[in-house]
Amino acid sequence: MKRNLKLLIDRKGRRFLINVIPGGKSHFHHGTILHDEILAGKTHIVSSKGAKFVVMEPSLEDYVLKMPRRAQIVYPKESSRIVSLLDLKDGDRVLEAGSGSGSLTLFLGRAVAPSGLVVSYDVRPEHQAQAIKNVEGWKEEIPVEWRIGKVEEVPEKSFYDAIVLDLPTPWVVIPYIKDALKPSGRIVLYLPNIPQITRAVSSLAENDFVNITTMEILVRNWEIDGERGIAHPEMRMVSHTAFLVYAIYLPST
Ligand SMILES: C[S@@+](CC[C@H](N)C(=O)[O-])C[C@H]1O[C@@H](n2cnc3c(N)ncnc32)[C@H](O)[C@@H]1O
Repeated sequence: MKRNLKLLIDRKGRRFLINVIPGGKSHFHHGTILHDEILAGKTHIVSSKGAKFVVMEPSLEDYVLKMPRRAQIVYPKESSRIVSLLDLKDGDRVLEAGSGSGSLTLFLGRAVAPSGLVVSYDVRPEHQAQAIKNVEGWKEEIPVEWRIGKVEEVPEKSFYDAIVLDLPTPWVVIPYIKDALKPSGRIVLYLPNIPQITRAVSSLAENDFVNITTMEILVRNWEIDGERGIAHPEMRMVSHTAFLVYAIYLPST
């Protein structure tokens, strides 16, 4: 169900995602916010205890970082890179596994909308149910076909422009899914550990993938305050999330 999501940002830069409904209230430790003030179009509101908030439309990144999770998500820093590596655009067809919490599905689906499609598999119905809730809770129409089962069972041949695997043993899966890709189609694997990478890269090479490239996406925010003479990396950061392995499918026949 589509919701009327808004992002509230307080003076310390803390961000709160709320679903705004007529007559609704949100309670924070710095007071209560009346939703009707937001529905009246105010962009700056004050809580019952005098705290000030800016009201904004949440970005997809804001939403994904706040939405409920059943499985560990792909972070936006990787999702955006994956969209670029796979060169996704309106009309493309993408095969994804697993659906997990739907974080990556949202970025893939937005990239191929409105006329493309993401086909998203998961072996665990409870994970996919969370992914469906999260995708349907986002304000944009995301074109997804949900399938329960092993991605190895995908029936289509030479159908997908791209494949993304975020599951623990892609080397088991690759021989079964490669023919679902069009020749010259692209694949990205999302893998947290180096032992997984070595097995996955060997499997890609044995299965007609070329241009195999392994990378890590590092984002380091800096705290800058000229008046106080501060210029250093932020103390707290998400450092390692996972590696990305990219490759192109070039079957010899
Ligand atoms: C880490 S989660 C995926 C998170 C997702 N990418 C996101 O951003 O929210 C991994 C998922 O892969 C599923 N999975 C594992 N092996 C699978 C397979 N062979 N086929 C389909 N899904 C699989 C698991 O059930 C789990 O939900």
